[in-house]
Amino acid sequence: MRRKLVVGNWKMYGRLARNKALLEGVVAGVGALKTADFGVCVPYPYLAQAQSLLQNSNVVWGAQNLSQHEEGAFTGAVAPGMLADFGCRFVIIGHSERRGLFHESNEIAAAKFDAALKAGLTPIFCVGETLAERESGVTEQVVATQLDAVLDRAGASGLAKAVVAYEPVWAIGTGKTASPEQAQAVHAFIRGRVAQQDSQVAQALCILYGGSVKAANAVELFAMPDIDGGLIGGASLVAEDFVAICRAAAGK
Ligand code: PGA
Repeated sequence: MRRKLVVGNWKMYGRLARNKALLEGVVAGVGALKTADFGVCVPYPYLAQAQSLLQNSNVVWGAQNLSQHEEGAFTGAVAPGMLADFGCRFVIIGHSERRGLFHESNEIAAAKFDAALKAGLTPIFCVGETLAERESGVTEQVVATQLDAVLDRAGASGLAKAVVAYEPVWAIGTGKTASPEQAQAVHAFIRGRVAQQDSQVAQALCILYGGSVKAANAVELFAMPDIDGGLIGGASLVAEDFVAICRAAAGK
């Protein structure tokens, strides 16, 4: 049985005082939940704060991006080893906002994936189609191309050390969630694609759903056989909403 995982993606939200209240609320709310795993991916400047507030809790922390380079003259970029220095477990890679707004290609995402693994971080590798792609019937093709970029570079053994997040672009921050059946179909497709390379890795792979997950829809999404938890944007910024989603993952 795969354990469920819920990870918050704060995006570019947060302030010291707000973060403290939020993280304290999350820690208090999930402390007794032992049957699932939890994490938050915060903006870089707050990694030290997350580390100090979460280090003795059952909530791990991470970042939302990293450089594919180990170090060098890359003004404004953050190296994988820097994230490791702050105790990060996770790093989100290939989020649709990175792909769309910052022009990150499949090749760059694959290079970042590799760099994260080398630094001992667990990539949360995001895939997902746009509305136009879904409507023109190429969802599986798009997701396969995104996934193959990483499979070709890091292999199934690389994916064994990662988490995949299926996030349909049309469901992110829009209030439109994929139905449990729509999400399940793509999750099963992802697992099947990995199974073509390694069925054991596919069976163990944690595949999160992301896109307008709320307390109200989490239970039915998490009940699907290939949905192993959620990557949560907006609802991760309100402690009681995030905790309610964590409870759904823990079956409480
Ligand atoms: P949302 O974002 O929950 O606000 O839709 C999810 C994400 O972008 O990871």
